[in-house]
Amino acid sequence: MKKTILITGGAGFIGSHVVRRFVNNYPEYQIINFDLLTYAGNLENLKDIEKSPNYTFVRGDIADSDQVNHLFETYPIDGVIHLAAESHVDRSITDPASFIRTNIFGTFNLVHAAKEHWKGNMEGKKFYHISTDEVYGSLGETGLFTETTSYDPQSPYSASKASSDHLVRAYHNTFHLPVLLSNCSNNYGPNQFPEKLIPLCIRNIQGMKPIPVYGKGENIRDWLYVEDHASAIDVIYHKGVIGETYNIGGINEWTNIDLIKALCAVMDEKLGRAKGTSQGLITFVKDRAGHDLRYAIDSSKIERELGWKPSLQFEEGLSKTVDWYLKNSEWLENVSSGAYEQYYNKQYHQR
Ligand code: NAD
Ligand code: TYD
Repeated sequence: MKKTILITGGAGFIGSHVVRRFVNNYPEYQIINFDLLTYAGNLENLKDIEKSPNYTFVRGDIADSDQVNHLFETYPIDGVIHLAAESHVDRSITDPASFIRTNIFGTFNLVHAAKEHWKGNMEGKKFYHISTDEVYGSLGETGLFTETTSYDPQSPYSASKASSDHLVRAYHNTFHLPVLLSNCSNNYGPNQFPEKLIPLCIRNIQGMKPIPVYGKGENIRDWLYVEDHASAIDVIYHKGVIGETYNIGGINEWTNIDLIKALCAVMDEKLGRAKGTSQGLITFVKDRAGHDLRYAIDSSKIERELGWKPSLQFEEGLSKTVDWYLKNSEWLENVSSGAYEQYYNKQYHQR
């Protein structure tokens, strides 16, 4: 019997890479992509697989319980991979309500519908919740986040994700919902919306616009290529132990300023500009409120227990990412709609 897997948020950045991987690698699965197509969702990301016989797109809102229930009544869902979320920290500072609605109520609707529809027959079912390392809060100069690090979220985004993680675990403990969770570090790669650091910098460097660096640029992030995250999700979905959490990271820490300088050097080379040209665009701006200093993941559990580790070196990943954005300037233009320009002007001109 063909398995039906519901992927939420499949039109977004990471979701589109997960959908593509599952549609192409598992013709025996029927993949249902449920996505509201907010500003961050874009079906152009999935053009290459949209006609595949094992792929169906359904537009809808996870925060609407009637829509979620209808989805479970319409399709014989065996598994859920839940990525739909509001995902940008800066937006969570200016508009927290949409994060509470989608990330908390949306996740609640999904776990609740899964519990109700799978009642009495949980055999072979899986609910896999995709989360972030930001739930653990901020590290000092040393240490790494492990699966047992206490939650200490600092932004409305990370608080809403932490809350959703707790709900998923509560449904496992209380109702025996067969859940899996993973908490991943910062992703980068093709199809990332240009509000996030790396595509924003690529876009600004290309257009010779200022590169806005928050504070002194000393904050540290652990970067993972998006296809490596998709491969980790594949491994966890198929081999992960029910009830367990896996941390996923790139073993790849960079201060923002060093990363931006490295990106400037790659861009100068690819655009045929004189060395150092793009670095001249670096502009220090007002820091993000409550800006977490450092995130870094200990991903030894997934490596030891499931045999996964990142496949790409950062230099290679960065080069591939820049190539993709330079080749897909139409994609970048299309997502940088009037609404995004308005957001950009409001966000950066008040700094
Ligand atoms: P994204 O913002 O690019 O995409 C989110 C997708 O969810 C979009 O397609 C959007 O249309 C959809 N969506 C939003 N609200 C919805 C709703 N109410 N109903 C249905 N669909 C809705 O996000 P992303 O960067 O691809 O992140 C995906 C997931 O991975 C999120 O859960 C995020 O917390 C997590 N995550 C992201 C990163 C990262 O670096 N981007 C790292 C770790 C974990
Ligand atoms: P971001 O891509 O928003 O991811 P997150 O906040 O989830 O880690 O930001 C990555 C880092 O880059 C973070 O420390 C904030 C910083 N940053 C800037 O310095 N300038 C910017 O314009 C943006 C968007 C982020």
